[in-house]
Amino acid sequence: MANEAWWRGAVFYQIYPRSFFDSNNDGIGDLYGITTKLEYVAALGVDAIWISPFYKSPMADFGYDISDYRDIDPIFGVNEDFDMLLRKAHDLGLKVIIDMVLSHTSDKHSWFVESRTGSECAKADWYVWEDAKPDGTPPNNWQSVFGGPSWTFDTRRGQYYMHNFLKEQPDLNYHNPAVQDAVLEECRYWLERGVDGFRLDAINFLFHNKNLEDNPAREGYNSHITQFEKKSPHGMQIHKNDISQPETLEFIKRIRALMAEYPGTMTLGEIGDEDPYKTSAQYSDNGKYLDTCYNTHFMSGQSKDFAADTIRKPIEEFITQPYESWPSWAFSNHDVVRVMSRWGRIQHHTNNPDFAKLLIALLCSLWGTVFLYQGDELGLPEADIPFERLQDPWGKYLWPEWQGRDGCRTPMPWNSDKKHAGFSTAKETWLPIPNEHLELAADSQENNENSTLHFAREFLKWRKEQPALITGDITFHDTGDPMILSFTRSHPTQTLLCLFNFSDEEKTVAIPLENQKETILRPFGNFYVSV
Ligand code: BGC
Repeated sequence: MANEAWWRGAVFYQIYPRSFFDSNNDGIGDLYGITTKLEYVAALGVDAIWISPFYKSPMADFGYDISDYRDIDPIFGVNEDFDMLLRKAHDLGLKVIIDMVLSHTSDKHSWFVESRTGSECAKADWYVWEDAKPDGTPPNNWQSVFGGPSWTFDTRRGQYYMHNFLKEQPDLNYHNPAVQDAVLEECRYWLERGVDGFRLDAINFLFHNKNLEDNPAREGYNSHITQFEKKSPHGMQIHKNDISQPETLEFIKRIRALMAEYPGTMTLGEIGDEDPYKTSAQYSDNGKYLDTCYNTHFMSGQSKDFAADTIRKPIEEFITQPYESWPSWAFSNHDVVRVMSRWGRIQHHTNNPDFAKLLIALLCSLWGTVFLYQGDELGLPEADIPFERLQDPWGKYLWPEWQGRDGCRTPMPWNSDKKHAGFSTAKETWLPIPNEHLELAADSQENNENSTLHFAREFLKWRKEQPALITGDITFHDTGDPMILSFTRSHPTQTLLCLFNFSDEEKTVAIPLENQKETILRPFGNFYVSV
């Protein structure tokens, strides 16, 4: 019988389609481009891929604003390109999950186009509409993630509509059962086409407080603001009423019932919340809701340090939640500064392959399902994007304080000596490829047995033979050294002690074994031993 819980302990590889490989030379990656590179992905030894949105979209938020859930955007190809991709991935033994953005649509989606025509139309209540206050201001104080109020006035309908992100991403009204039915049918469409599951974008953003109560201010905001909160009024509020509403869990049960009709499929929820561990654990409790969730903690400004506790504390916090849940973890994705630069900067090792290898080994040894982001296997650092080349609307809004998300979205460097690093033969690519990525290109790492790429492949091959690293429990140990992380992964057939040196100095570490009392860990080194 096929392993229906194949996703437990699996290693996923996230593909950002605009930047993976450009097969039609327009400077933007596409689905056929992904298909031609699937051997490379399979050779890494990952189990599955997650592809960021490729549906029809005006691209205000680069695909996270969908105008037709059942169509492929012409930038990315045609419908058959997806079928070919899926077939080839399956032939290579890779599962495929796709990104479902259910919280909002594009303002160009036919549902919204109809909804804004007036309060009498059939889809009048499909989005969150509300009258202006008597003084013309928005219905409440909610602030959007990307800056500015969560409300935009629509002159046609003469009312405000709500959006948690850009004004081009109006929020669907999940209090309306017709909306729930409609989005479930869009999910079913892709399950029928054979996908292995969904990454559910901003899944705790589906419902809002029906009474539109104001969010409270965040006490002490100015004294402990994080990297992102500093830059947006969104961070000045506690998000009590605009996200994570109790009704969400009831709707997720409906998602679960749908998935159950397609055995072997899975759901991964993205959680951005006041209490990311509690919400992630609750939303994936004991086979009742989603299969697993990841939260953005390891990737946000919240984890400013890079020391053993940076990893240990969040996982222990997850374990102590009063739920039976299986977690997911990622260090990088298409929304955050690449981990090599984020944590590497603290260590001054953004270009050190030993640091890149440590991050791969560490992530893929944690209890849970893990997500590598394209380029992690090459140890790519964040790219600096000049203002004139910025694409991300969030970056344009926040510049020069922060360049936004373009620095982690630059095209993959495939060949060190080809134009645009072998990503495209177009005159210009949608984002520039930084020079420092050229020497890290896949082909030059292929020719170097000590490269990060070779390490990633060997590590993942070895990991497949270690049941403890795949589904074993985790127990952390005190080491007395803030830069040494020690834990045991225990499986009925294997127990592994795992040690990691987070510093750039050699360390001697005690180990509790009869025949081996200590080991020497190289700078950024790791050590695994059966106990
Ligand atoms: C996605 C972002 C996107 C946002 C709105 C997220 O969490 O990962 O890329 O901008 O949702 O859809």
